[in-house]
Amino acid sequence: MDKDPLSCDVTNKSSNCCSPAPELHKLDMKEHWNTTYTNSPEEKLGWYESDVSPTLKLIHKTGLPKDARILNVGAGSTTLVNDLLSKGFNNLIATDISDVSLIKLKKRLGSSQQEVEFIVDDLTAPTHLNNIEPVDLWIDRAVLHFFNEAEQQNQYFDLLRRSIRSEGFALLAEYNLDGATKCAGLAVHRCNKEMLQDKLGGGFKLIDNFNHIYTMPSGDLRPYIYTLFQKKGPM
Ligand SMILES: C[S@@+](CC[C@H](N)C(=O)[O-])C[C@H]1O[C@@H](n2cnc3c(N)ncnc32)[C@H](O)[C@@H]1O
Repeated sequence: MDKDPLSCDVTNKSSNCCSPAPELHKLDMKEHWNTTYTNSPEEKLGWYESDVSPTLKLIHKTGLPKDARILNVGAGSTTLVNDLLSKGFNNLIATDISDVSLIKLKKRLGSSQQEVEFIVDDLTAPTHLNNIEPVDLWIDRAVLHFFNEAEQQNQYFDLLRRSIRSEGFALLAEYNLDGATKCAGLAVHRCNKEMLQDKLGGGFKLIDNFNHIYTMPSGDLRPYIYTLFQKKGPM
C-alpha cells in the first residue's frame, strides 16, 4: 500500500498496472473514496486542479451552447463545476460514487448548487444513471483509469455509449502510458488514444487530443492524455 494514500506512485513502473493491488482488491470503493475525501482538504488531493483550462479547451472545441446537457462523471469535488457555471453553462450534472465528495462540492458552490443536479452512483454498476436523459457531453477526468478489470470497463463504456446523444461528445482525460501506476492508493490502468478509441468502438470518432502534464499539489508531475471523441450520427 502507498505510504501516503493520496500520492500517485511512480515507483512501480514495471508491475502489471492492469491488475488491482491485491490488498485493495476487496475494499469497498465507495468507502475508500469517502474516506479519502474525508481525510484530506480538497486542495491537497493528488488530482486537485485550480486551473481546469485543458478541459475547458476541449469543451470549447465542441462548440456546444450554454444550455448543453453536461454530465461530469466521477466529478468528486472538482473546481470544473464552478468554472462551467461561471462561464454560463446551466445544465450540469455531477455524479460520483462518493457522497462525501459531492457534499464538499455543494458546499463550495454555495447557492449555485441549485443549478446543478447531483447523482450518487457507481459508474461500473449504475442504477440511477441508467435512467437519465441523453447528454450532449460526458466529461471524465481521472476516473476511468481506476477501472482495471475488463468487466468494469465494459460496464463503464456501455453506460457512456447509451448516455450520450447522437453527435454528442465524450471528453476523456486519463493517465497516459508514461503516467503513474497508482493513485489514491489504487492501481491505475493507463491509456493512450488508440486504447480509448478501441473501447469506444466505431460509433465514435476522435476530434482532438493532446498530452498534458499536471502538477500535483505536492509539486510532482503527472502526464495525462486528453481526448475528445464525437458520437457519430445516424448514417
Ligand atoms: C482522481 S478523482 C478525480 C475527481 C475529479 N474528476 C477531478 O478531476 O477532480 C477520481 C474520482 O472518481 C470517483 N470514482 C471512483 N470510482 C468510481 C465509480 N466506480 N463510480 C463513480 N465514481 C467513481 C472517486 O470518488 C473520485 O471522485
